[in-house]
Amino acid sequence: MTGWLGLLRRLPPETAHRLAVRGVRLAPALHLPRSERLRARLGPLDLPHPLGLAAGFDKNGEAVDGLLRLGFSFVEIGTVTPRPQRGNRPPRLFRLPEDEAIVNRMGFNNAGMERVAAGLARRRRRGVVGVNIGINRDSRDPAADYRRVYERLAPLADYVALNVSSPNTPGLRDLQTASRLRPILGALAEAQAGLGASRPLFVKIAPDLGQTELEALVETAVACGVTGLIVGNTTISRPEGLRSPLSREPGGLSGRPLFALSTELLRRTARLARGRLCLVGCGGIFDGRDAYAKIRAGASVLQLFTALVYRGPRVIRTILEELEALLAGDGFARLEEAVGADLG
Ligand SMILES: Cc1cc2nc3c(=O)[nH]c(=O)nc-3n(C[C@H](O)[C@H](O)[C@H](O)COP(=O)(O)O)c2cc1C
Repeated sequence: MTGWLGLLRRLPPETAHRLAVRGVRLAPALHLPRSERLRARLGPLDLPHPLGLAAGFDKNGEAVDGLLRLGFSFVEIGTVTPRPQRGNRPPRLFRLPEDEAIVNRMGFNNAGMERVAAGLARRRRRGVVGVNIGINRDSRDPAADYRRVYERLAPLADYVALNVSSPNTPGLRDLQTASRLRPILGALAEAQAGLGASRPLFVKIAPDLGQTELEALVETAVACGVTGLIVGNTTISRPEGLRSPLSREPGGLSGRPLFALSTELLRRTARLARGRLCLVGCGGIFDGRDAYAKIRAGASVLQLFTALVYRGPRVIRTILEELEALLAGDGFARLEEAVGADLG
């Protein structure tokens, strides 16, 4: 391990993360080869390739342009809550290098919607940027609070992701049940009508959902006109075979050990959605084979986070080159043709 990545890995995780966000702001443009085969669609939005950055890296939208320059085809900022929030007490971020994983219990630390809105408003709008929205830990009225963040930030973004799946805000994941989700989606639909600005809406789900909950969630999302689902967030489970002692820390697990679980959830979701929702595959993508497996399991686009921590920005190019070769090898002229190929 040499260079910047090696240096960052020797620092405490949160210090390294802060420095990485600052460093990315100064990042030069990395040129990726253009490929017709890799063109993708995030709902109605056209992308040059399918690989985006997942929420949590740039919670306040401070490094969006730098992240786009690194080569991500879209960047999701957040989670942003109505009011600023400090999050949980440190330590709350743990590297599990033996497992190429991370455990985090950050708890929606963020600068709040006003600061984030000011930053987004200063940008020249270029590239696809999504805002992942959440609620403060002490929220008494989730539907009203999600609506406030939506109204403030949706006009400044290309899409909105509703986070009802973070394990680090008590009770948040209960909002995935159809009866709790419906009023929230209703409030956002009203907000959207009021703004007169339509933005694609994605719901980000937990990889720990049971089949009955998943079925109800998919039908609710379709009925409420949601564009798609992000599948998914970190897991509170601990898959067998984890080697790092830090895996016992409470919080959400991401990275390699999340791949199988999140890809299985993606497959189940795709079977239920039957083409009615755009699915974003996220969880444990480290190389082209992982990316290809998610596409074949039903994802139209992809997001990653943990691989960026362990591999650095060149992982973007490597994944795309490998994915292109795998698609070509199987005779797919366009990525779209491979979406759901394993579903039978
Ligand atoms: C340190 C850290 C912070 C995260 N913060 C958020 C967040 O604020 N909102 C969110 O929706 N997901 C958050 N995530 C989850 C990621 O967006 C992603 O869903 C998850 O890490 C799985 O992808 P990966 O295995 O490629 O990392 C966070 C993940 C990590 C590692």
